[in-house]
Amino acid sequence: DWTMEHFIDLEVEKIRAEVGERNVLCGLSGGVDSSVVAALLHRAIGDQLTCIFVDHGLLRKDEGDDVMRFLGDGFNMNIIRVDAKDRFLTKLSGVDDPELKRKIIGNEFIEVFDEEASKLENVDYLAQGTLYTDVIESGTETAQTIKSHHNVGGLPEDMELKLIEPLNTLFKDEVRELGTELGVPEHIVWRQPFPGPGLSIRILGALDEEKLEIVRESDAILRDEIKEAGLDRDIWQYFTVLPNIKSVGVMGDERTYDHTIGIRAVTSIDGMTSDWARIPWHVLEKVSTRLVNEVSHINRVVYDITSKPPSTIEWE
Ligand code: XMP
Repeated sequence: DWTMEHFIDLEVEKIRAEVGERNVLCGLSGGVDSSVVAALLHRAIGDQLTCIFVDHGLLRKDEGDDVMRFLGDGFNMNIIRVDAKDRFLTKLSGVDDPELKRKIIGNEFIEVFDEEASKLENVDYLAQGTLYTDVIESGTETAQTIKSHHNVGGLPEDMELKLIEPLNTLFKDEVRELGTELGVPEHIVWRQPFPGPGLSIRILGALDEEKLEIVRESDAILRDEIKEAGLDRDIWQYFTVLPNIKSVGVMGDERTYDHTIGIRAVTSIDGMTSDWARIPWHVLEKVSTRLVNEVSHINRVVYDITSKPPSTIEWE
């Protein structure tokens, strides 16, 4: 008779037996899988676990602080937060090709992670939140590989750490159940998928601080209203994109010439195909009003009503 409690007991025993007195490293992204794997490892070996959280400055509003508050303080977990925003923004300056952005972020991520990891002593293991679906998909050509997925958490090649992947028999819904059982906060356990390259691929073309601010603030408002409307568990992903288009508007007596923001919200089972979410108009109306009133440099809001295929979920 298989229960999650039983799974936890077994895994904790297995991890302790394998690791002994040695130390384990884990890359935290703030996403569901890495958070749950860290919580499980922490249950098993406590202070022998050190997490590295690379903050590339492309995260959503308050995300970095959230990770530190709920996992660092809440679990009393060793987390090294690396503020690498300037490094990433410098490398990305003037880069407008989507694949090049991904490549730069992936490489820089590994470099930062590697630098931090090499400062630690007596680390023999690397824990990763690989799921069962990742195991079956690896090696097969999926539609996902149309975009090169440099997932945050890539393994630095020359580190020679042994891998611990305690989630590799589980599906996503089981990982959520496990996280809940381990006391990971609900908003982390139910988090929507968020791409490794973060907000950078939600700004079409080259990014800068001002554009990042526009997507970050508008994304926060959209999330707020979707949650308020009770739709957050029904919609697979919902976010805003900055297409880098300016158009004419009017505010008060003034003519404006400012940014358009796009809302993307899709329903999906696995991200491979998707349909646009039929968000009630009154919700969209409220979001639109708030975006224009509360985020500077937005004077127009559009809603993306394409499915995947032919579009992708992200705009880059
Ligand atoms: P697309 O845009 O290809 O996205 O329909 C499918 C799913 O993958 C996510 N995505 C990424 N995830 N690195 C990631 O870790 C990436 O470069 C990346 N690009 C897209 C996207 O958010 C959606 O869930």
